[in-house]
Amino acid sequence: MPVPYSENAFKKAEEYRLSSSPLILGIESSCDETAAAVVRCGRDVLGTAVHTQIPVHRLYGGVVPEIASRSHTERIGAVVREALANAGATLSDISAIAVTYRPGLIGALLVGVSYAKGLAFASGLPLIGVDHITGHIAANYLTYPELEPPFMCIVASGGHSHIVRVDGYTDFTLIGRTRDDAAGEAFDKVARALGLPYPGGPELEKLAKSGDPEAFRLHTAFNEGESFDFSFSGIKTAFVNILHNAEQKGEQINKADLAASFQRAVTDALTNKSVRAAKEYGCKTLALAGGVSANTCLREKLENACKKSGLSFCRPDMKYCTDNAAMIACQGHYELMAGRLSTLDLDPSAASFLQM
Ligand code: KG4
Ligand code: ZN
Repeated sequence: MPVPYSENAFKKAEEYRLSSSPLILGIESSCDETAAAVVRCGRDVLGTAVHTQIPVHRLYGGVVPEIASRSHTERIGAVVREALANAGATLSDISAIAVTYRPGLIGALLVGVSYAKGLAFASGLPLIGVDHITGHIAANYLTYPELEPPFMCIVASGGHSHIVRVDGYTDFTLIGRTRDDAAGEAFDKVARALGLPYPGGPELEKLAKSGDPEAFRLHTAFNEGESFDFSFSGIKTAFVNILHNAEQKGEQINKADLAASFQRAVTDALTNKSVRAAKEYGCKTLALAGGVSANTCLREKLENACKKSGLSFCRPDMKYCTDNAAMIACQGHYELMAGRLSTLDLDPSAASFLQM
């Protein structure tokens, strides 16, 4: 039985829709960033705050879920207050609350969802649960005020690699997905094999800058095939085998060359499949989203490929590539406008609706 929604929250949601400058509070706690943001009319970011846990998880070489949950619990109140203060707002200026409720680490999601539910219950404000993947896609709306669906989007993050057709602000069709590792996960794993600190993606990109991307051929047949699905675990295994074979033979290997070759194989797959998907489905625009969208090689490769194919290309500002709450507030705005409110028994879930 869904928990009945208060009359007041329905009224406030209607007021939000009719208002010329409604403010929405976004909350994000799906992995290792505790983040909050205040956004006006879905696209105008007034204030943000983020507490990153990267230095703590770095000690263990990856995210430790229990530590993540505890840290979110300790920080979430202060982060929300800081975002409100940075926006020059108080809770009484806010008209709705959006929160990431899937996918992610279940204990981490639980903190943000519980906090948002408590705030919505106490204030009588409407609550909107947002799927993190759709939040990443919405990061593009923050960067391109004129961007509207439909468009094709390639989402590459630590947990997901999806080609998604964005048919409307709340209407998505999954076109392709990874069959094994996510692109960011593969970056993190090979970086770890090289002894680079967590998160490995940005570190591997730095190392790759001085390497030769043609030195090793790590491409796999699957990523060159017809399917719109990806596979990154074969590229990762080939990388690790080259590294271990060289170590066993006592040979020196050029790590920058290996890093650059890996980056080339992954970014080629993401680029070729997503551009082909955009053309095949008749989309005029291809957008990039997710933490791996911070990778300059991928941004440039997609931009050039789109230019060649007559597609317009969008990618979020660097500050909205990795996890943030502004993108959650933005998608929350569109969910609310579509009348998709959550009830107060909203439960977090580890899986995205795109995986179900
Ligand atoms: O979207 P995100 O912040 O969290 C998830 O939703 O998973 O993505 C984090 C992922 C990590 O795997 C990280 O290594 C990767 O994005 N990443 C990068 C870069 N910056 C972040 N991968 C490659 N190059 C980068 N510059
Ligand atoms: Zn993310």
